[in-house]
Amino acid sequence: MKLTLAFLGLAMAAAAASSVKADDLSGLSDDELVMLAVASTNQTDGPSPWDWPNMEAAEAEIATNTSDSTVNVIVPDADDEASKRSVKTELYNLGNVISKRDEFRTLTDGTDPAYSNAALQAPSYLTYTVISNTTSYDTAKASCLAYCDSVKGCVSANMYNEIGNPLLDHVFSEKSNRKCAVYGDIPTLSQMTNKGGQQLYGKNSPANYITNSALFSLYAADTPATPSGYTNVFGPLKGATSAGPAKGYMGYDFITQYSPQQCADLCDARGADPVGGRCKFFNIWRGVVGGKPTTYTCSYFYATTDASTATNYGDAVNKVTVTYSRGYSLN
Ligand SMILES: *[C@@H]1O[C@H](CO)[C@@H](O)[C@H](O)[C@H]1NC(C)=O
Ligand SMILES: *[C@@H]1O[C@H](CO)[C@@H](O)[C@H](O)[C@H]1NC(C)=O
Ligand SMILES: *[C@@H]1O[C@H](CO)[C@@H](O)[C@H](O)[C@H]1NC(C)=O
Repeated sequence: MKLTLAFLGLAMAAAAASSVKADDLSGLSDDELVMLAVASTNQTDGPSPWDWPNMEAAEAEIATNTSDSTVNVIVPDADDEASKRSVKTELYNLGNVISKRDEFRTLTDGTDPAYSNAALQAPSYLTYTVISNTTSYDTAKASCLAYCDSVKGCVSANMYNEIGNPLLDHVFSEKSNRKCAVYGDIPTLSQMTNKGGQQLYGKNSPANYITNSALFSLYAADTPATPSGYTNVFGPLKGATSAGPAKGYMGYDFITQYSPQQCADLCDARGADPVGGRCKFFNIWRGVVGGKPTTYTCSYFYATTDASTATNYGDAVNKVTVTYSRGYSLN
C-alpha cells in the first residue's frame, strides 16, 4: 500500500504485516510512526543553478517540507526484526569540526565516469563558492577544501563544473563554471545524483550538465559539542530512543542539520507535559533511507533515559536505518 506523507498527516496510522488500512493507521506505535515519516521525508539538497555563491551557510532549523515520495506502509514483524539487529558503535562522528585539509579523503576525483557527471544531493547542504576553472585540479581542490575549512560545520565538499549556466558564464565575476559546494554531513557516492538537465538559457536551449564532479570528506569529524545545560548520555549508536521502554515521549521534529544544540533549543522551548513537566531528555539521530541519509530527527522525553532504551533500529520494509544516535539529558 502506498501513501503520501500528506495523506499520513491526515490519517496517522496502523499496520500489521501487509494488511494496512489507509484510513486507519491508529495502531502504529510511536516508533513506527517516526520511521514512516522519515521514509516519506527527503531533505536532500545542493546548490540550485540560480543560487548566488558565497551566501551565509545555512543554519540548522526545523525542516518544514517533505518530499511527496510514496512509502510502503507495511510494518515488519517486530520479533523477527529485533533478532537480526544489534547496537553497534559507529566508526566516525559528525559535528562542528575544525579541520585540516590533509584530513580529507577523496571519495571520487572527478575522473570516474560513474560519478563525474553528477553533483551531490545530500542533506545538510550549507552553501557554495565559485573557484577558478583555469587552474590545475590540485590547485582547485586545495581552494575548495580551504573553502570548506572556512565554513562552520563543513565536513564535505563537492567540486564540479556546471556547463550551460548563464550566471556562471556571464554574470558572476569569477567567469568560471567550477563550483565548490559544501555540506555538514558525510556523504556517500550513491548520493551523486544531480545531473543538471535544466534548460537555463531558455526553452529549446541545451540543458545544463555536470562534469568532473569530485567529492571530498573528512576522515574523522569530532564529537559534536554538548549543548550547555545538558550531558551527553550515549552515542553514537545505531538505535534511536524507543518511545516504548523510554518514559515520557513528547514527540519529535525533523531538522535540517545534525545539531544537538538545535535539539536542545527545541527541547527547552517545548511546552511542558501536563503530567511529566518540561522536556528533560532528547535524542538526535540521522535517518538513512535506502542507504542514503535524508534527514535528522530530534525526539523529546520528559524523563531521562540512557543507551538501554536506544532500541528503535528503523523500518526494514521502508529501508530506514538509524545512524549517529546520541542522547542528552538535562542537568
Ligand atoms: C526543503 O527543505 C530544504 C532544507 O530546508 C531546502 O533546502 C529545500 O529547498 C526545500 N525544498 C523545497 C521544495 O521547498
Ligand atoms: C571556464 O568557465 C567559463 C564560464 O562558464 C567558460 O566560459 C570557460 O569556457 C571555462 N573555461 C574552461 C577552461 O573550462
Ligand atoms: C531524495 O531526493 C533526491 C532529489 O530529488 C533524490 O535524488 C534522492 O534519490 C531522494 N532520496 C530518497 C531516499 O528518496
